[in-house]
Amino acid sequence: MKLAFFDTKPYDKPGFDEHIAGTDIEIKYFETRLGEDTVQLAKGFDGVCVFVNDTVNEKVINELYDLGVRVIALRCAGFNNVDTKACFGKLHVFRVPAYSPYAVAEHAMALLLTVNRHTNKAYIRTRDFNFSLSGLTGFDLHGKTVGVIGTGKIGRIFAGICKGFGMRVLAYDKFPNPDSGLDYVELPELLRQADVISLHCPLTDETRHMIDADAIAQMKPGVVLVNTSRGGLVDTEALIEGLKCHKIGAACLDVYEEEGDLFYEDCSEEIVADDTLVRLISMPNVIVTSHQAFLTKEALSNIAATTVDNLLKFERGEPSPDTEVCYHCERKETCRKTRDQKCF
Ligand code: NAI
Repeated sequence: MKLAFFDTKPYDKPGFDEHIAGTDIEIKYFETRLGEDTVQLAKGFDGVCVFVNDTVNEKVINELYDLGVRVIALRCAGFNNVDTKACFGKLHVFRVPAYSPYAVAEHAMALLLTVNRHTNKAYIRTRDFNFSLSGLTGFDLHGKTVGVIGTGKIGRIFAGICKGFGMRVLAYDKFPNPDSGLDYVELPELLRQADVISLHCPLTDETRHMIDADAIAQMKPGVVLVNTSRGGLVDTEALIEGLKCHKIGAACLDVYEEEGDLFYEDCSEEIVADDTLVRLISMPNVIVTSHQAFLTKEALSNIAATTVDNLLKFERGEPSPDTEVCYHCERKETCRKTRDQKCF
């Protein structure tokens, strides 16, 4: 199998090279992203491997199909950048549902601790021999209420970490897990009570902008918002307004609605044209990381292992119901995945 690997970063290669050793998979690494302008690079390949900011819309999918590509291997969990309906019957799409939920949950806590205790500023100050503490006051997490929205793999681990800090955890999920031991409340109740709100649900039509002006209006003054999930969950303009009027005390953002053209790239020599992001980064109580919550050695190795396994199963024609995405063909009664473990 020949695989075109898009949006390659130096940290991607070691894990993949190790895991394809001894298989018949050959990888050509492209630094460019997959999109309408670059899709022709996939000519002569059987599959493409993509990440969160590659564009896999209907046009790209149809061109991939015409070029003879038959499989899309996402090396991430989320698949909101893939038009899965357009793939149905043409290209099989696999993802890595879990690689290290600990990596993401721990990063969410790292961001919360950083923004609260200002360790980012303290580090810069002491390097300049400025030992003043003015402006570095935080608050005890112990005894505060955290609202966890989305209690899947990552949300539950984050809730556990918060419990370790002595926080009271409230949870909201569209599909509450009765075995999680979590205290579920309706979303408005969570928004009303939480001192810290952390987002851990997927981006769907339903969850897009779930944190909008109306939701922010219901929150406690001074609330800290943490988003390590997907940027589209938050209406960024509403967030900025919330920060400007001090309703939101701080924001920790590993993801951003319009991150596609910027995140993972070095733009330090450029004038960044996205005024919204620049405004956010300029605020002293906002911390932005570049969609890096997943980035641990363990996660990278698991991503490579699962992706290679997905491709080998595809080659052998074996079903992989846990990692092949559902194409939402809407044939509910005759759903083939339910019957045969494969959509097509
Ligand atoms: P998961 O599938 O285990 O859990 C998602 C949870 O969200 C489920 O419990 C589900 O019932 C819930 N949910 C679905 N729709 C909802 C709604 N409308 N309202 C409230 N809850 C809803 O997913 P996992 O592994 O915990 O990942 C969560 C998200 O984290 C992913 O969707 C992805 O967007 C993001 N992520 C971010 C990474 C990063 O590097 N920043 C890395 C990996 C994942």
